[in-house]
Amino acid sequence: MSRTTRRRRLLAATTVLSGLALLTASPATAGPPYHEQYRPQFHFSPARNWMNDPNGLIWYQGQYHLFFQYNPSGNSWGNMSWGHAVSTDLVHWTQLPLAIAQDADEMVFSGSIVLDKDDSTGFGSKENPPLVAVYTSQRKGTGRQEQALAYSTDGGTTWTKYSGNPVLAIGSADFRDPKVFWYAPTHSWLMAVALSDRHKVSFYSSSDLKSWTHLSDFGPAGATGGVWECPDLFPLAVDGDPGKTKWVLVVGTQSVAGGTGTQYFTGDFDGERFTSDDPAAYVPPGGTVLQDFESGSYGDWTTNGTAFGTAPATGTLPDQQTVSGYRGTGLVNSYNSGDGSTGTLTSPEFTVGRRYLNFLVGGGNHPHTDGADTQTAVNLLVDGKVVRTSTGSNSETLDWTSWDLKDLIGKQARIQLVDHNTDGWGHILADDFTAADEPALSTPQRAHWVDYGQDFYAAVTYNDAPGGRRVMLAWMSNWNYAQAVPTSPWRSADAFPRQLSLRTVNGRTRLVQQPVGELRTLRDAGSTMPTTPVDSGSTPLAVHGSTLELEAQLTPGTADRFGLDVRTGGGQRTRIGYDTTTGEVSIDRTASGLVDFDPTFPGVQRAPLALDGGPLSLHVLVDASSVEVYAENARGGQVVLTDQVFPDPSSTGVDVFADNGTATLDRMRAWQLGSVWT
Ligand code: FRU
Repeated sequence: MSRTTRRRRLLAATTVLSGLALLTASPATAGPPYHEQYRPQFHFSPARNWMNDPNGLIWYQGQYHLFFQYNPSGNSWGNMSWGHAVSTDLVHWTQLPLAIAQDADEMVFSGSIVLDKDDSTGFGSKENPPLVAVYTSQRKGTGRQEQALAYSTDGGTTWTKYSGNPVLAIGSADFRDPKVFWYAPTHSWLMAVALSDRHKVSFYSSSDLKSWTHLSDFGPAGATGGVWECPDLFPLAVDGDPGKTKWVLVVGTQSVAGGTGTQYFTGDFDGERFTSDDPAAYVPPGGTVLQDFESGSYGDWTTNGTAFGTAPATGTLPDQQTVSGYRGTGLVNSYNSGDGSTGTLTSPEFTVGRRYLNFLVGGGNHPHTDGADTQTAVNLLVDGKVVRTSTGSNSETLDWTSWDLKDLIGKQARIQLVDHNTDGWGHILADDFTAADEPALSTPQRAHWVDYGQDFYAAVTYNDAPGGRRVMLAWMSNWNYAQAVPTSPWRSADAFPRQLSLRTVNGRTRLVQQPVGELRTLRDAGSTMPTTPVDSGSTPLAVHGSTLELEAQLTPGTADRFGLDVRTGGGQRTRIGYDTTTGEVSIDRTASGLVDFDPTFPGVQRAPLALDGGPLSLHVLVDASSVEVYAENARGGQVVLTDQVFPDPSSTGVDVFADNGTATLDRMRAWQLGSVWT
């Protein structure tokens, strides 16, 4: 049976680049106009060339240092080195010369920086303690990933690689992105580092940053669909009470929104081990089991072709150990005699009686929309037509999925499993078809997401930020399409810095984020919109701009969906909506402007936020090529969504809208944000 395919671009790109001669770094200090089309006006982006993850975030002597994964010689991923910028306010940035360059032996992958205040490394002196970067050395010869040091004794301007590198190597090609910080209780350095392909974070400790002792591993847990990258671990006060602290573990992985995103866990850290607050097992909602394939036969379900064999599969499944809620041993597996076999398995007709149909699905990702001959999917048929479809995600691990059948209640339907695909992952797994009143949630849906948009990855927080504040920066892009984004001569920006806190919501500890307050320094005098009711349509508001901050409160009426459209005009809009039928906030960028540079770019990203009839508060940051939405309900629940958009510069309008009914914009404050580049 085929195995999960692993990391595409890193390995491919590494192989290609290892043969190239070392390319000379070109410091991008010369001030370009910074006003090219799509150039962010209040988000950091490098003057030229490719950037990905923020690295080495540290506040030091009055400056926020931002290092970043950087290609000094091109506008796509490669030659990975650390670029460098500084800011006193997290808003205005000055890009400095390249900090740590790749060389003939290594690329310089992601990592962190600490101030070695007691000169435990001996790289500086007690009087002039060094800054020490702990980064992943991507070995060009072997493809291995090892942790290495570089140090600076001039405040971060110039860097020397440690001659004793590597300081930590385990012979793995998936061991990266060390986040190091000072852990006062044991008076030692602590490292969180990803065992990427094993969906684990390893913890190590050290007294001198050179010799490291393994403490423990955390994971697999939460979302494990993709590799794990860029971990961060830090304490935060709960509900502002300094006597009540929890630890937050942040991990980049495959996101609920598609492509790469950032999940977090809250829990405890005892100096050795991180323990998550999440329950170990998931119990899906109960209901009427339509078919669980435990009887040893397909019963009244009928097969066609050879893919499904004569009876359900039984026994221990490969990779099934972690499926929460999986009961029994029988299940459907259309791998009968290999991916090449084809066929269907069809349920008898039944009357849709409950709102949700929940089931477990795994295997290939060949949706019905791929076409009749190439699909391998679970479909719902009504009047002979496919009205719902689901697939696995090219993984042998079953996960819960749920169809909302609200509009089909009372209809006659059939479930049909179709395996027509004969290539890799040309098989499907399924089980436990259950009619229920509540949706079952997939593993990614149950995970906690720092951001539910598609453009918030490799998020890490500052070491040593003043006043104990915890500030997070993230790469505002997605590995699905990052290299195709239509900007030149630079590619990628960082999301606007966020200040983090923890809040108890419905008895659970949740991460809460706000754009750092320094943003206010860019505001103009602002304007206030009057209360604006809308009924099945949209109303333009008296505010225009391509760099805007909006604070709005909206109250649902009878509408199915309502919200704000930004960057409207010329047929374009980015829709920030609330769907009252599903209880979700969303960003819809399908009509946002340029979207066709990658098939995974246009789409709608959704985040669950129950309003219970109460108002929806939106705090929105609009820049030349991004929209960030902080949404809250009246009970302190919050979700955040960040998406890149590439609208026409002339699309500057803001509308309030409601679909199929009423809603009200209770109030809105709007500010034009000044450019940090003028
Ligand atoms: C995350 C990442 C890291 C790695 C870096 C390489 O985006 O894949 O895991 O260190 O990018 O550029």
